[in-house]
Amino acid sequence: MALLLAIESSCDETAVAIVRGAVGERTEVLASEISSQIELHREYGGVVPELASRNHSLRLRGLVEKALADAGVAMSAIDAFAATTGPGLASSLLIGSTAAQGMACAARRPFLGINHLEGHLLSPFIGSTAVPPHVALIVSGGHTLLLDVEGPGRYRRLGGTRDDAAGEAFDKVGKMLGLDYPGGPEIEKAARGGNPAAYDFPRSMLQDPHLDFSFSGLKTAVLYTLQRAQGQVSVSDLAASFQQAVIDILLGKTLRAARQTGRKRIGLSGGVSLNRALRDAFQAACGNAGLELALTSADLCTDNAAMIAFAALLRHLAGESTHLGQDIHPNLPLV
Ligand code: KG4
Ligand code: ZN
Repeated sequence: MALLLAIESSCDETAVAIVRGAVGERTEVLASEISSQIELHREYGGVVPELASRNHSLRLRGLVEKALADAGVAMSAIDAFAATTGPGLASSLLIGSTAAQGMACAARRPFLGINHLEGHLLSPFIGSTAVPPHVALIVSGGHTLLLDVEGPGRYRRLGGTRDDAAGEAFDKVGKMLGLDYPGGPEIEKAARGGNPAAYDFPRSMLQDPHLDFSFSGLKTAVLYTLQRAQGQVSVSDLAASFQQAVIDILLGKTLRAARQTGRKRIGLSGGVSLNRALRDAFQAACGNAGLELALTSADLCTDNAAMIAFAALLRHLAGESTHLGQDIHPNLPLV
């Protein structure tokens, strides 16, 4: 059994989690604390890096203490410490990584630097005893990535976005529609009761044999529709039609990836995978295609430290560690 404490601070959520696990056993999340800065950044319509890093450093200590108290463990019982070391905002990554390395150094325990995307990718399997071979779709604010997963640490990139990430498209279209930041959950709300076939938005690259995505044409199509209509639009029809186009693109490419790789299982993760219509569409399509779908539980879709702790635990149990002094990497690739 190993106890691991991890920090996630790559963007605007400060998070600390403690997990316990052993090889071949179900990992238990003993504590998962998240302090969201969404309210702080809302008035700017996006994340302000300096504000984010200052708040990470202000909130981190309290969150570590709360995580230890919630888990009912002493700091001295932690076997290894981990933090996200990329990709993300440099000044935000530095806070969590430096804090975790400091704790590891003081406790004379190993440190593990974790790729944020690996955290998302593994999150559908946090409650499982193993990470089986599958096709992974990571859809977040910064990334849209399709991977062929052989097992933990064995990833092959199949495709990704050539311009905006899916969540970024949600956020930008939300802004165009005058909705609050972040746009993703607001568009989902606005789309309820809207007609997803009201506007025929483009599904860029959907018919192409490759597994890359493009969302900028879709975003521009929404903009032109708004400009042409001079404000005379149904926001709910527009939101529903935009959301449907994103779902069709993500689903079409993921099913194509499953066919091309022969994988029988799909893992869906990242903030956008919280979207109910997307989850339902994947569930229905996977059922029809005879594919197993591993969804990330709703509380672990957006940024959190439990996913970082889980990724770190698997590496720790496999005997890996990262040297102290490891730098952060704002553009750290997963593969
Ligand atoms: O994974 P995440 O918390 O952060 C990144 O690593 O980027 O994802 C945040 C993204 C934002 O773009 C947000 O608008 C989107 O996830 N999002 C959603 C929903 N909830 C969050 N997009 C669509 N529907 C939602 N319900
Ligand atoms: Zn994320």
